[in-house]
Amino acid sequence: MTKKYTIVTYGCQMNEHDSEKMSWLLENMGYKPTENKNDANIIIYNTCIVRENAELKVYGQLGSLKDLKRKKPDLIIAVCGCMMQTETARNVVLDKYKHVDIIFGTSNIHKLPQLIDRHNQTGETIVDVVEDNREIVEDISSNRKYTFKAFVDIMYGCNNFCTYCIVPYTRGRERSRDPKSIIREIDQLAQDGCKEVTLLGQNVNSYGKTLDYHFTFADLLTEVNKIDGIERIRFMTSHPKDLSDDLIAAMAQLDKVCEHLHLPVQAGSSRILKAMNRKYTKEDYLKLVEKIKRAIPDIAITTDLIVGFPGETEEDFQETLDLVKRVRYDSAFTFLYSKREGTIAAKKENQVPDEVKHERFQRLLDTMYPIFYENNMKYQNKVVEVLVEEVSKNNKDILSGRTRTGKLVHFQGDKDLIGKFVSIKITEIKTFTLEGFIIQ
Ligand code: SAH
Ligand code: SF4
Ligand code: F3S
Repeated sequence: MTKKYTIVTYGCQMNEHDSEKMSWLLENMGYKPTENKNDANIIIYNTCIVRENAELKVYGQLGSLKDLKRKKPDLIIAVCGCMMQTETARNVVLDKYKHVDIIFGTSNIHKLPQLIDRHNQTGETIVDVVEDNREIVEDISSNRKYTFKAFVDIMYGCNNFCTYCIVPYTRGRERSRDPKSIIREIDQLAQDGCKEVTLLGQNVNSYGKTLDYHFTFADLLTEVNKIDGIERIRFMTSHPKDLSDDLIAAMAQLDKVCEHLHLPVQAGSSRILKAMNRKYTKEDYLKLVEKIKRAIPDIAITTDLIVGFPGETEEDFQETLDLVKRVRYDSAFTFLYSKREGTIAAKKENQVPDEVKHERFQRLLDTMYPIFYENNMKYQNKVVEVLVEEVSKNNKDILSGRTRTGKLVHFQGDKDLIGKFVSIKITEIKTFTLEGFIIQ
């Protein structure tokens, strides 16, 4: 009988891409995917610990598997990802969820087949986590979700230690992949029909710093831009402190680099930014945005914002509102500050009460949504190039895809168009999406 697997993924694109790698490894072992956990022979949770709610979801899920495991003792339950890189979360799983069979970390994904074998041979709970994940394992293949667009890791880890953030503790020190192997990977993707790549790193702007020769992120973009078949280049995430003039110039010049920049600001108050260890002020950020908009006038800028960092006063929060009104973001991910054990901010005594956080959060959304809508109004009656991505979940005749600026567009069309570029005339504007019809 064919063995089946389910991977449940939480967290960022890094995790999504790691799950694509695990899926490839499992299919090579003869497993087939299933969405139904009751059918699965192995269930893997690829976890995230960036905010508390991500963590709680995983414990909830693990708890709910107890019965299934009792009925199917051969079922393998594995937990990996960022949560398992912290000792506390690992111990919680080991103590409270004894039905978990395999625990592994973010830098030993390639060992999954061995870990499964070891568990099968010994019947024991296997724990394999590398705390100091400096090694880069190259050339792990992945079972990518789409053929026409792909994530490509260009670096791992983070050295920035923003005081609220746990990522530097889970993903280890920053290290860049060798540009030659990145280019080789993208070349191969292009030959396999990939048209859009998203280069991934916690701070792509500092790409190259750990290489033993001079090679920057702008240099990497220049090389990727030369690859035939690749038509769009995206990247995530850019730390404002490291966004160089060279990079802005490269973005403006390179035809395949999309007019979209995700530039997390986190907060508008320079005092809070300092306490967050972000290394820029509100003024620095605003100047940077002005420079980018001057160089690339039709760029869409998106961001991440945290509300209720310890010590955030109403005045500080007003600075955030002022900043979002001045930048006029195209979209934003907004988060309630979440205390993460082991980070500097978690030790602060001046934590903001939950009701205050929630109330500020709502005011922030109320300020930003009309701006998103007004920005989208610029697309009314315009013709945009869209890479068709998928059929709408609710209506089979409706397709969706994205513009170069990252806007989600809905339109009527045949599913054969998935993976192709179409020209869409925009007829309707919403806060988060655009609607239109195919003109070619
Ligand atoms: N490396 C990226 C993003 C990493 S995490 C960057 O620096 O931009 C993604 C987002 O989660 C962060 O940008 C931040 O807004 C949010 N985040 C991280 N830690 C958080 C915490 N403790 N509470 C709330 N939001 C957090
Ligand atoms: Fe976290 Fe800051 Fe690193 Fe981003 S740059 S991963 S927010 S420490
Ligand atoms: Fe979460 Fe780890 Fe990504 S903590 S946001 S999955 S790097």
